[in-house]
Amino acid sequence: MAIVNNKNLITLSSKNSSYQMLISPMGHVLHTYYGSRIADSDDMSYSIAYVDRGNSGNPYDAGADRTYSLDTLPQEFSFQGGGDYRITCLEVQNSDGVFCADLRYKSHSISKGKYSIPNLPASYQDGDNDPCETLTITLSDTVLNIEVDLLYSIFEEKDIITRAVRVKNLGSEALNIHKIYSACLDIMGGEHDLIMFHGKHGEERIPDRIAIGRSCHTVSSGRGHSSHHENPFVIVCDQNANEDFGEAYGMGFVYSGNFAAQVQKDAFQVTRMTMGINSDMFILPLNPGEVFDAPETVMSYSAAGLTRLSHNFHSFIRHNICRGKFKLTRRPVLINNWEATYFDFDGEKIEKIARTASELGVEMFVLDDGWFGNRDLDDKALGDWFVNEEKLGCTMGELAKKVNDAGMKFGLWFEPEMINENSQLFRNHPDWAFKTPDRNPITGRSQLVLDFSRKEVVDEVFSMMTKILDTANIEYVKWDFNRSIADVFSATASVQNRGVILHNFVLGTYDLAERLNTRYPDMYIEGCCGGGGRFDMGMMYYTPQIWCSDNTDAIERLRIQYGTSFGYPTSVVGSHVSAVPNHQTGRLTSINTRGVVAMSGSFGYELDLGLLNEDEKKEVTLQIETFKKYWDVIHNGKYYRLTNPISNTEYCAWLFVADDKSKALLNLVKTHKHFSEGRIYIPFKGLDPQKQYLIEDGNVLTGQTFSGAALMGRGLYLDYDMNEYDATQIYITEVK
Ligand code: GLA
Repeated sequence: MAIVNNKNLITLSSKNSSYQMLISPMGHVLHTYYGSRIADSDDMSYSIAYVDRGNSGNPYDAGADRTYSLDTLPQEFSFQGGGDYRITCLEVQNSDGVFCADLRYKSHSISKGKYSIPNLPASYQDGDNDPCETLTITLSDTVLNIEVDLLYSIFEEKDIITRAVRVKNLGSEALNIHKIYSACLDIMGGEHDLIMFHGKHGEERIPDRIAIGRSCHTVSSGRGHSSHHENPFVIVCDQNANEDFGEAYGMGFVYSGNFAAQVQKDAFQVTRMTMGINSDMFILPLNPGEVFDAPETVMSYSAAGLTRLSHNFHSFIRHNICRGKFKLTRRPVLINNWEATYFDFDGEKIEKIARTASELGVEMFVLDDGWFGNRDLDDKALGDWFVNEEKLGCTMGELAKKVNDAGMKFGLWFEPEMINENSQLFRNHPDWAFKTPDRNPITGRSQLVLDFSRKEVVDEVFSMMTKILDTANIEYVKWDFNRSIADVFSATASVQNRGVILHNFVLGTYDLAERLNTRYPDMYIEGCCGGGGRFDMGMMYYTPQIWCSDNTDAIERLRIQYGTSFGYPTSVVGSHVSAVPNHQTGRLTSINTRGVVAMSGSFGYELDLGLLNEDEKKEVTLQIETFKKYWDVIHNGKYYRLTNPISNTEYCAWLFVADDKSKALLNLVKTHKHFSEGRIYIPFKGLDPQKQYLIEDGNVLTGQTFSGAALMGRGLYLDYDMNEYDATQIYITEVK
């Protein structure tokens, strides 16, 4: 049993962790523990301190007991109105404009399996070998006439707990919800750091680690998408935690719109960690009888440092978030024409790029932006999803066939939520774009955002897309989103509903994604948002890989892929070999180095391979064979960060180890060359110390055998000179 109820205690346990809550005599659900696995009979409520603290108010029913205050007690779901002045998860206003809630325990139930959330992405139980139980705690406020369900599912083998919240208006008056977060975790005692993943276009998810002080730290997006700038995944860990040591708590949001993760250490050594929809510009009207489902938060705990925490998330995202035929299987190695041609192509050029790529072993061609309407620059035609047959010299079906005849699958780019003013769609439906009345809109890449909070808009885009997808053999779609949302005004939303437009926009995106997945179950969709600006578990539910960054420079990608790896598995990271000098940075790197870096993701190419010299072409063919040999350990094995490329400016190393420890692939890129430098010792991790390993491929070391203990204790001694930006891969297999 993963969930045990013992009197007023409820304990959720997975393989290595336990989570416990207490229903207090006054009906508050207090948090008692999240940490290493304890016995089901352990009562951790002794760790709650009941102390009379000045200026911390008491519920009226506490009577003379001044030690009972929601301002100081650890809680499962804090709410405004209960006297808790720390971060709250719920703020409700009644029809008289009064802000106040008082949530008390009403009932709870425990069931097998996983809850789902209507119209929102949510993790799921992956077959019978993936035990999962769900706890539903119902809280009620008898004055507001609302019930709040706190949903928890525990995945025993994965050390993951998911949480979601459902609010029901059972009364006869309309309410406004001003804030609703999906998870609150109070961590008692300790000195903690917060790790967050900031970025910008071309530099997404760069880790930033700060000490958690007394102020409230907020990581959030108000851009209408999860954004390049912040990511809905954060870690709170011991200040002395590192990759292999220390306690770490991770929270990720299964949502692609505005989010907030807030962390605050209170006056009494409790660190509160929360996550939910960003409450800026969010007012949700909840009419009598209505129910609102807040998105899911995924939590994990590791007692063994950050690597274990990442492994928990990686496995969970691969098995329980991503869906479809390609979630665990090898995806075709693709070539995308964007950096090869930009808008300057015709059918012949495309066919030529595809044929050369096919001859070298590439398996799929993806036609990027520029094939529709009169789109020959990025300031027109978004929304006109009909094929420019004049430019292609044929129909899309014919082009797909030519590519298929060249031995490759065919994929196509769309940017469904966007529209240019210079488009037929805009001329026909000017009110379909977000625009604030009486003002000029904010443009981004010369485009506006379609109002996906309106079903008829989603319907029309779906219909335009299916007309093309139905008539050509398209096995892959790249779904782009190239600007942030600024003008949040929907021509059809009532005054009361204007605070929920952005959330409804996200639901519109999910609706379209679900319809496409249902209609084309064998097609796979890659997410994209000017690179990695919508890189979150919400999108991963529909798109099992996401273009990680528009920055394709192999050396820059080291930091981006390193940061991304804390929360997300390699299989979701879209990564391509591009041309040199690199189009974003002008840097020169060898085709080998570009291949080594791009292979640590969903691998592909983004250049005209016809322009390579014969040696480079041979290397491309070899690279594809190598990827086919290694992909399983890369996508489905365990990922170890061996160096931090931000602090280690000499080299960057990372490792993949198969779950059964029978093989491993070490990757290393020399990032800076010094005069007279020492050689590199590089220790492995995660091997079996008892096993013997043969270096099957590995430069001058090939053919040597070492024990797992030696490889992890001392590591390999790379006794050869590496030039700046050189890369190496070392593949070891167990000697049976
Ligand atoms: C975005 C994507 C690129 C490419 C262009 C096309 O920037 O991230 O990969 O598809 O759009 O306009």
